[in-house]
Amino acid sequence: MLDTSLVPATAPDLTGVRQYFPSFAQQVNGQPIIYFDNPGGTQVPQQVIEATSEYFLYANANTHGAFSTSQRTDTIIAEARSAMADLLNCDAGEIVFGPNMTTLTFALSRAIARDLQPGDEIVTTTLDHDANIAPWRAIAADKGLTVRQVDIDPTTCTLDMDQMHAAITERTKIVAVGYASNAVGTINDVAQIVRWAHEAGAQAWIDAVQYAPHGPIDVQALDCDYLVCSAYKFFGPHLGILYGKREHLERLRPYKVRPASDEVPERFETGTQTHELLAGLLGTIDYLSLVGNVYANAGPDVASNYSGRRRVLKIAMGAIMAYERTLSQYLLTALSLIPKLTLYGLKSPTQVERRVPTVAVTLPHKTPLQLAQRLAEAGICAWDGNYYALELMERLGLEPNGGALRIGLAHYNTTEEIDRCMQVLSEAARA
Ligand SMILES: Cc1ncc(COP(=O)(O)O)c(C=O)c1O
Repeated sequence: MLDTSLVPATAPDLTGVRQYFPSFAQQVNGQPIIYFDNPGGTQVPQQVIEATSEYFLYANANTHGAFSTSQRTDTIIAEARSAMADLLNCDAGEIVFGPNMTTLTFALSRAIARDLQPGDEIVTTTLDHDANIAPWRAIAADKGLTVRQVDIDPTTCTLDMDQMHAAITERTKIVAVGYASNAVGTINDVAQIVRWAHEAGAQAWIDAVQYAPHGPIDVQALDCDYLVCSAYKFFGPHLGILYGKREHLERLRPYKVRPASDEVPERFETGTQTHELLAGLLGTIDYLSLVGNVYANAGPDVASNYSGRRRVLKIAMGAIMAYERTLSQYLLTALSLIPKLTLYGLKSPTQVERRVPTVAVTLPHKTPLQLAQRLAEAGICAWDGNYYALELMERLGLEPNGGALRIGLAHYNTTEEIDRCMQVLSEAARA
């Protein structure tokens, strides 16, 4: 079952957070910009902008020098690690930074592959972004491994869990699965999949890129072996984050240059990191802490298992999840009223606990690109195509036919913005 224990019974109204996002002051064709490409990347709060520029003013240097700016850089990296550890509920030594999720997955999968043998198996899914499929296929090709791909039920775009259970056997070494879909929004029961993986002696690799902006993550409760996410999808700068159980990070043999540290977790961080963005990530955590503190003072205790910043961040993500469910209900209801519109995946406003507020839709006689262009003219940013969820879009017959229009909400969006979007789509449906 999905963990809903952190969600307060009464959803808070988070629309006040928009004041922290200066990019919403932009206008397009005389109208306030509406940002619905959140699965592609979110906007950042002022705290991120300030922390990034302060890095350049007061700390810009390489690491481990004897001088002040270098030492400030070392401190910022250590603080960013412990901030991410608080968000994911792990030790700072289990956090690895990299340019993005894709690069981290290619790098770690290659290190993992060093210890795999021909005939070993990897389980992937049709629902996943290609960044959680292609790296595993690449090591399979290099090492003579077998990849088993778990299918979906195309009517609901949910994973076939019977097939998943059957695919995980004593030959399985890695189960690679997404926490939430970047195309259709489905949340997977990753806790159950981790249990099945461990029962078979396999490890679980969770792609949490699309879940991290929408709900609380606890890697200890999930007991996953690895979990990857991207800060730019949860109101931070363009960088990737990997959680790995310490025992794995110590055992694996990373590809690295000789003079670089062989300590965990630094041994996986090849070359110079984007220090200014790690400073920016601290701004993200400050912002989320602010949301958590505001809500903690106003509402009931929803994260009593945690303390300090971990607790505040859990409260923030619980509040975000609760508010977004109200947005999802509103969006799904509004979309159901547009004639001839097809929505892929979980459709019912009663199913919002099983999805994040990301939907893929099509209309007859209009290509997804044409719909995205109409929205763009109205100041609404939304993406069209396959969003690299290639297997899924092929399975749904949407590729190679232009994919679908994606509308992806975040906690700073409002029902008024949904109304404006629905107006454009209704007009397109009639035209
Ligand atoms: C579910 C999912 N996984 C992985 C990625 C790749 O992330 P990155 O751009 O950090 O490599 C994305 C990007 O959209 C995604 O949505």
